[in-house]
This record gives sequence, structure tokens and C-alpha cells, in this order.
Amino acid sequence: MTKFKIGILTGGGDAPGLNAAIYGIVKTCLTRLDCEVIGYKLGYRGLYENDFVTLTDERISGILHRGGTILRNSNKDNLFNFPITDEHGNTTYQDVSSVAVENLQKEGVEILIVLGGDGTLTSARDFARKGVRVIGVPKTIDNDLASTDITFGFDTAVNIVTEALGRLHTTAESHHRVIITEVMGRNAGWIPLHAGIAGSADVILLPEFPYDIQKIVAKVKSRSEQGKHFTIIVAGEGAKPKDGDIVVSQIVKDSPDSVRLGGIAAKLAYDLTPLIDHEVRSVALGHTQRGGETSAFDRILSLRYAHHVATMIEQQQFGQMATLRNGKMCSESLEDVVGSSATGSTSKGTSKPVTPDHELVQVALGLGITFAD
Ligand code: F6P
Repeated sequence: MTKFKIGILTGGGDAPGLNAAIYGIVKTCLTRLDCEVIGYKLGYRGLYENDFVTLTDERISGILHRGGTILRNSNKDNLFNFPITDEHGNTTYQDVSSVAVENLQKEGVEILIVLGGDGTLTSARDFARKGVRVIGVPKTIDNDLASTDITFGFDTAVNIVTEALGRLHTTAESHHRVIITEVMGRNAGWIPLHAGIAGSADVILLPEFPYDIQKIVAKVKSRSEQGKHFTIIVAGEGAKPKDGDIVVSQIVKDSPDSVRLGGIAAKLAYDLTPLIDHEVRSVALGHTQRGGETSAFDRILSLRYAHHVATMIEQQQFGQMATLRNGKMCSESLEDVVGSSATGSTSKGTSKPVTPDHELVQVALGLGITFAD
């Protein structure tokens, strides 16, 4: 008898914990369900091109701890608006999702498990609308999805930034410098907030709280007066001055979310230099925050999501996403978690910003850390 088949794909940017989730889903499904698992390569592109690999126990051996994804990622390929170039070199955007549905049918894939962020899960919702039996798993280092307490990748990123802040302290102190560290998170400040507290930053700049540069100047000066001739600033990449705008590093035209942030630390270093006596340096940690080994916390979290996915399959919970609510794994409709608009969650207000009344904001203020807002 042929076994029923499950397909997995990873979309959007990579996040530590994706391999752990793949490992957990494959192991758990092979153990608990009598099935075969295949993985589509490069996100939705693999589904469109019917490019996949069979995920056997042997194939996933040794991937639990590794960052990245053995299936590779793409944050460009939206099959509902996919670039097709004709023989004359003209490109038009077309809905090619039916090709993907045909490929699933052709391979006998009965269930599709989609691991991704906003854009990837919006397409998952749209495939569910087309009758595909989809299960979503959220991932993002930004931890900005309102539908779930925490996403894997976030803890690893926070640990990397925290370690970097420790290293920057000793060199900043030696040179009496102000060092501004730019970290990821897009429009959410969870990474700078957590790592800034754990890494003992003096100033934390969040996208949610536009800053006043004079308050940063005041902090640097007051530290100097106390004999602390260095200052560590951690800035979320989406941070902006009260009278200014975010800094965009590039526009990735064919990406569903085309704006790539970056450059705020360098800009702030430039703006701050004439206002203080210290030398100012900037560091952008960039993709180091997504690379390397996955933290133990993220591995466990990914394996919990994987375990719940197997339960969702057993209970036939399709068109849903695995979520963590108040510490418990549960399932929620993709329509609810992503929203019903064509672009998905961001336009539905289902993202999760840092708010002034959040406990960690109060913790930071109590420690004398300033948000310069
Ligand atoms: O959403 C995850 C994230 O790492 C953001 O924090 C960052 O702004 C963005 O992706 C970077 O995207 P890319 O991998 O395209 O450079």
C-alpha cells in the first residue's frame, strides 16, 4: 500500500530553528503517522517547479542544531503574483498557483506544511482557499507576530546580539567611545529590547519609540560625569528620530515586502559626532543574527511546534497555523492569524509592536537605560 505523503517548504528569510522544525516534523511524522515526507526546495519556487527531495530519517540526520534550512529559502516567489518572462524578454506577473496545486496532485502530496513569516503564510492561506490541506508554522527572528507568544529564531538572535554587546563593551571602554550597534527586527523592537537589557546597553532605540538625539547626548554626558567614558547604544534597524524617517538600505523589487532597512547606526553616528566629545563608531550586526548554531531554547521551541503539527495532522486541522498562546501549543485559522486582505497581516494590524507599558520597557527604565524618546 502506498503511504500518504506530506510536503514541507520553508519560505521567507531563514531563521535559526527552521532545520530543527524540519527535523522534528519529519521524525515525528515518520514515527507517529504512517507517511512519507518530501521537502520542496527554495520555498514556493520548488512547489512551482516540482523540485523536491525525499526527507528520510537519514537525510535529516545532524541538522537539529544547524541554522539555515536544508530546503533553502526564497523571500521572492509569490505564486499568486509570479514573474513570467516571455521569449521577447518581457516580464508579466501572473497567478501560477494552479501549477503548484497540479504538482501536489501529481506527486500525491495530501498535506502541505508551510514554515514562514507574513508573506509565506499569506500564500499558505491562499492555497488553503484553493482547497489545499495546509498547515502553517510561524517563523521569524523579529518575533513580531501577534498570533503567537514567541517564534523560533528570536532567542538565537537575541543571544548573538547580547554576546556582541559584551564584546563591544570592552573595546568601547578602552577607547572612551560611543558604539552604536544596529540590530534586525524590521519595524518591531523585540530584539533590541531583549538584547539591550541582557547586554547592558545604556541606550536602546526602538522603532516603536522615535528618539530625540538630545536625550542621547544627555545620557552620554551624564555617564561621563560619573566617570563612565563610554556608552553602548543598541538600535533596532527600524529606529528613527522624532523628526525624521526610517533608513532604507535597499528595495528588493520582486520581494513581497520590498523594503530592506539598514543604516540607522551609521546615520546616528554621523549626527551624534558633532554633539559630543567622544569618538563614535557604528556596527551593523546584520545577518550574523540569523547564522550559525540554533540556541537550545529555539531547538526546543521548534520541536514543540513540530510535535503539534503532527497532532494537527492527526486531528485533520487544516487551513490552520500552529501557535503558542500563554505558553500552550494550539491551532488557529490562517484566515485569522494572517488576516483576510490580499497582502496579509501587516495591513490587518496583526503584527506585535513593543508598547510603552510592556514589562521589559519598565524593567529597562528601572535599570536607568534610556529609550531617548
Ligand atoms: O524578517 C527577518 C529579517 O531578518 C529582518 O529582521 C530583516 O529586516 C530582514 O529579514 C532582512 O531581510 P534579507 O534577508 O532579505 O536581507
